[in-house]
Amino acid sequence: MDAFSWTPPGPTDSRSPCPALNTLSNYHILPHNGKNISLGQLVSGLRVAYNLSTPLCYILALTGLIACGTFRFVGLAPSWTLDLENLALHNRIEHDASIVHADAAPHAKYAPRQVDPTLYHEFVASCPPGGMTKEDFVRARVRRELTLSKPLNLFRSILAASEAVSAFDRVRDPQTGTFTKEGLEAWFGENRFPAHWHVPDEVQTVRSIASETTQFRKEVEEGRKAAQASI
Ligand code: HEM
Repeated sequence: MDAFSWTPPGPTDSRSPCPALNTLSNYHILPHNGKNISLGQLVSGLRVAYNLSTPLCYILALTGLIACGTFRFVGLAPSWTLDLENLALHNRIEHDASIVHADAAPHAKYAPRQVDPTLYHEFVASCPPGGMTKEDFVRARVRRELTLSKPLNLFRSILAASEAVSAFDRVRDPQTGTFTKEGLEAWFGENRFPAHWHVPDEVQTVRSIASETTQFRKEVEEGRKAAQASI
């Protein structure tokens, strides 16, 4: 990402609860103001920075636009765009038990977009000295899901697992294969790519993310049930 410069958001810039997309805006890969982002911009940003396959880019970008985008006519031309802050619309894609974001307040339309300091510090503090493995990520999700009064439904538990899987696979340290503490702080805390990180060489495809998400969800379910049984 050396070709792109990182600039934190200004007071009128739009940001979301998604560290991946906020990071792209902070590097000007998506519009820095986070507003009126088109399908083409989302697809190309996800491909350039995270090396996702074209079908996966389209699935993610269209999901965001359909669930949280705005359709309007500009003159006679149709326009369908996304403001990042609308990704916080509660229970569209956004869900409870996020790793570093607090749950939406009862009856609130939007969930918090800012990182919750307590959740964030607990998450970073849980990083072992050698870096966070996928199993550590599973444990972090289990901890958050145990705070819910009823489990996430199937759709949202797939979303939560796929976010974790994709983040781990795309943003972990290429040398160690783990998510380093510095990497967690950079990406989750500041929405910045970690030092020494580079775009992953291997493409992430629909098939690879689907099979890893299924396995990850299974492990979270087992962890959650085991923890509940021991109470
Ligand atoms: C157009 C593509 C994308 C859209 C529309 C999108 C949307 C979202 C939304 C709405 C959330 C909030 C969910 C919640 O309540 O936790 C979220 C969170 C998250 N996203 Fe994305 N996302 C996209 C791409 C990605 C990619 C490519 C990655 C990984 C490299 C990613 C990683 C994450 C993570 C880890 C979280 C959870 C943050 C937390 O638990 O606090 N997202 N995303």
